[in-house]
Amino acid sequence: MDGNGRWAEMRGLPRFEGHKRGVGRVSEIVEAVKGIGGEVLSLYAFSIENWMRPEEEVSVIMALLETTLKNEFMNFMKGGIRFRIIGNKEKLPDNIRSIIELVEKETYNNKEFVLQCALSYGGRDEIIRAVRKAAALNPASEEITEEYLAGLLDTAGIPDPDLIIRTSGEQRLSNFLLWQSAYSEFYFTNTLWPDFTKAELMEAVHEYQMRSRRFGKVDNNKSFFAGNSFGIPSKWSE
Ligand code: FPP
Repeated sequence: MDGNGRWAEMRGLPRFEGHKRGVGRVSEIVEAVKGIGGEVLSLYAFSIENWMRPEEEVSVIMALLETTLKNEFMNFMKGGIRFRIIGNKEKLPDNIRSIIELVEKETYNNKEFVLQCALSYGGRDEIIRAVRKAAALNPASEEITEEYLAGLLDTAGIPDPDLIIRTSGEQRLSNFLLWQSAYSEFYFTNTLWPDFTKAELMEAVHEYQMRSRRFGKVDNNKSFFAGNSFGIPSKWSE
């Protein structure tokens, strides 16, 4: 949800106006992702590094989150949306943690869609917490596999992201889903999050659909040796 602050500053408004407008974009994007058959939307709302922002801005963001959860709760229930948080919950203020845990519990059995919010989140922090959990479980070394560690991450049970969209012109991952993004496709746009619309989401999805995802393997439809029986790549034998 990058670019809220700049959106406001460009208009001579306080930064919280950008965050407010940013939150206002969420329901349209959730509906759009649901509408094309998407099952999970993860929003990077607040990174573990964001705790270093001025106290006033952090309080505004937390208050916005609280109000949004209260306002949207009935919509989550009506829309079959399960809400969950990934991130370091220990750092959250008690009132925010309680409302989050309540919404997570009440929406747990909603099966149509998962809205996953990265809050107080850092990819490295998530991996370290997973390794600590593993250490406490004391597994045999051969038990430690990719599946084992993935099962201890905050995203356990949630599929890895197919497409990661970064708004506001930045072209980096900024500690987001480091483990889970191993084979994700990336889409970068200069659009600031408060201006990100369903139309632009569709553009991103369209570009994603044109990509060839091989997960490190050979594309079966475009085999290197297809097209002749001499083992010569077809494009060279033409
Ligand atoms: C990034 O913009 C946005 C944030 C740090 C906060 C976004 C989170 C919320 C508005 C609350 C979350 C609510 C829900 C329901 C998901 P920025 O401030 O980094 O913008 P800038 O890069 O232009 O300064």
